Amino acid sequence: MTVPMQGPTAGRPPIEGLPREVRIHEVGARDGLQNEQATVPTEVKAEFVHRLAEAGLTTIEATSFVHPKWVPQLADAAELMPLLADLPGRYPGVRLPVLVPNERGLERALELGVREIAVFGSATESFARANLNRTVDESLAMFEPVVARAKAAGVRVRGYLSMCFGDPWEGPVPVAQVAGVARRLYEMGCDELSLGDTIGVATPGHVAALLAELTGTGTDGSGPAGGGTVPVERTAVHFHDTYGQALSNTLAALQRGVTVVDASAGGLGGCPYAKSATGNLATEDLVWMLHGLGIRTGVDLARLSATSVWMADRLGRPSPSRTVRALNRQEQQQ
Ligand code: HMG
Ligand code: MG
Repeated sequence: MTVPMQGPTAGRPPIEGLPREVRIHEVGARDGLQNEQATVPTEVKAEFVHRLAEAGLTTIEATSFVHPKWVPQLADAAELMPLLADLPGRYPGVRLPVLVPNERGLERALELGVREIAVFGSATESFARANLNRTVDESLAMFEPVVARAKAAGVRVRGYLSMCFGDPWEGPVPVAQVAGVARRLYEMGCDELSLGDTIGVATPGHVAALLAELTGTGTDGSGPAGGGTVPVERTAVHFHDTYGQALSNTLAALQRGVTVVDASAGGLGGCPYAKSATGNLATEDLVWMLHGLGIRTGVDLARLSATSVWMADRLGRPSPSRTVRALNRQEQQQ
């Protein structure tokens, strides 16, 4: 598969205030597959992750060590991880984070040699209850020993925060409420904080306002506005594409200094405990935009797109990614 020319790509990014490089945090194997009706065989998941690494992705979220009854699609986490054991050797620098909600999950992950975990909190009470069977305070209390034990074991910790923009039960979520929970997660010791638009309702101005509140970067991207307590270098964004806003939101975040963006190959995804959540921003759509802006990702778009076509065949339905579809159409016409 060949990727047609995009321009202008040489030299500096053609829009002011953009980074030269973005690290993509690939969530297809976790956020994507956790929401599939069909149970994907463990070997297929392993091949998917191998193909993602082959395509140049360096941070590939592999699975979740949650209660198997809550997310049966990922109940094979303990079988999957050994099939990925050779990956860091084959692709130096590749990281395979996994989701862990509690100490039980951490113990299961550590036994398998996991070096990076993610805890996942909620900015709203309704989603904390639906997703973790806890209040916001109770879930933060559940994470505290997980983060402390992980850090003591030299394990890197990401903190997710869901429902940062809107919540299906509570409606729009005030930025001050989100920033309050985000700070608590960050101060707990998370190395990175990923701001989740779980149901995909954010728009770029809202993204700018939240980043201004949280990180202190000005809404015009001009620099510190004061008041922020989470450094922008430690902040990632996680957009679901329900209303087609994920790329615009990403651009708004990049203009405010964010350089880590979550995405899912082929646009797989959703969340089993937020019924209105649809797929994540497709990694291919993100890469198309970033490369078009002259921003490096290290990703081979043709390889990645071929992987998503392969995965779509396994799942029995086409990828929702516009870029995957366009590249695949061209491939078939050649
Ligand atoms: P609970 O029912 O309150 O659990 O669930 P519990 O602590 O009362 O324990 C009950 C039993 O479960 C015990 O067994 C535990 O050992 C066992 P028993 O003693 O009764 O035999 N148990 C476990 N077993 C295996 N692994 C574990 C585990 N924990 C407890 N880790 C719990 C609480 C947090 C476990 C549950 O609510 C859960 O697993 N939730 C996970 C939900 C989930 O994975 N959601 C999707 C990920 S979040 C997301 O997608 C959003 C994100 O993408 C960002 C965005 O888009 O916004 C990240
Ligand atoms: Mg998600």
